[in-house]
Amino acid sequence: MKVLVYGSGGRDHCLADKYGDSQHVDKVYFAPGNPGVLHTPKGNEKRKLIELVPLRDFGKIADFCVEHGVDLADVGSENPLEQGLVDALTSRGIRTIGPRKEYVRLESDRAFTDDLLRRIGVPKPEYQVFDDPERAKKYVRNIGYQVVVKANGLAAGKGAIVCDDVPDALDAIERIMIKKVFGDSGNRVVIEERKYGTEISFFAYLDGEHVLPLKMFAQDYKRAFDPDDRQSIEQFGGNPNTGGTGCYCPHKLLSPWLVNRIIKEIVNPTVNEIYNHLGWQYKGVLYFGLNLDPYDNLDVFEINVRHGDPEWEVLARKLSTDLFEIGTAVQEGTLDHVKQVWNKQYYVDVIAMEGRSKASRGWNQGYPKRYGKGHAITGLDKIERGVAIYFAGVDEDSQKSLVTYGGRVLHVVAGDRTLEGAREKAYRNINKLAFVDHNNNGANCLRFRRTIGA
Ligand code: GLY
Repeated sequence: MKVLVYGSGGRDHCLADKYGDSQHVDKVYFAPGNPGVLHTPKGNEKRKLIELVPLRDFGKIADFCVEHGVDLADVGSENPLEQGLVDALTSRGIRTIGPRKEYVRLESDRAFTDDLLRRIGVPKPEYQVFDDPERAKKYVRNIGYQVVVKANGLAAGKGAIVCDDVPDALDAIERIMIKKVFGDSGNRVVIEERKYGTEISFFAYLDGEHVLPLKMFAQDYKRAFDPDDRQSIEQFGGNPNTGGTGCYCPHKLLSPWLVNRIIKEIVNPTVNEIYNHLGWQYKGVLYFGLNLDPYDNLDVFEINVRHGDPEWEVLARKLSTDLFEIGTAVQEGTLDHVKQVWNKQYYVDVIAMEGRSKASRGWNQGYPKRYGKGHAITGLDKIERGVAIYFAGVDEDSQKSLVTYGGRVLHVVAGDRTLEGAREKAYRNINKLAFVDHNNNGANCLRFRRTIGA
């Protein structure tokens, strides 16, 4: 069987890699992919199980799938989903995993989803929606409790600004609605009561008729720095949310009791609304961003229409069920026949980010602020067998060496019988890597958090 995965980030590389593990699959096309894959065991010149297809145009991708007899396509991230790639492929008869453009609204319009959840009684924090920055500011001056200010549209996982006090909230409104740091996604904001507790990322596959909730969940680390890394936080001017800096699974709160509660209180009513009231034939992944507070109350922060990044990178390692079989079941409406099997290992993903580096004038502060590019990535040849590297923001220079290109550059994912063992292995390996800052005497500008899974 032949699979095409569309995307270029770490989650997409991991999807391509996981399809490559399937007993049914002998070729994975990765479009547009990223050149890091050519430096991995499945993508190297000798094996070419994963092959890069440098196409971004949806019509050309559909032509490619038809010409090459692609059996299943998987669209892993929100932007191509919102731009209608699934619609473009399915209209040409290509069996595709991922929601149609119309259904991406669940992620790209927070106010729509919040109203939906409120209507059906799924627990979520108090919230108000604003199109006018002055009214939003007046609200946060009056509300008294701490809030999270969220851009209504897509913002690469960075659109939620957690505020400690009123000046923070006023600043967040200013940045999102007036300075437009997330572009038009910030024309509208949702201002939500800030919740305390533990975050859980929970996933389910939908096939248009059934739901397969994954009975395994992960914890993402959103802040750029470890909370006790005061020096870096001060130098950076705060500790902002990122698209994710690392992840581990199984989550410390995983229990059959909590999985059942999440399915009963949150997943089932939401899926019922999608299938039976909206009448949507949703085929793909739903991501429930949840909070469990100290009194055991669950709340939904957000719903996304894809796997989490970096959550998928650890869940995929732990999942023993063949991904091609899950994908086929999503297509054929037979998810009720799928048996999910998880191995017994713990997994830790530590993300190597672009840190502080020398710019032609002054300094780049590093991800998620302005970061440098083109830093040579060294040490990949020293990574131990069994440790997975999933590439995200990388490029190839003229000598075909890998260099950094994005803020989140690559994932180091290690597994072990114990969480401590998995942590130790992930950190031992990330410490073998460096991003060489050619403007700063070859200093290492790779940055990572040290408390993932701790
Ligand atoms: N890990 C957060 C996200 O994928 O949006």
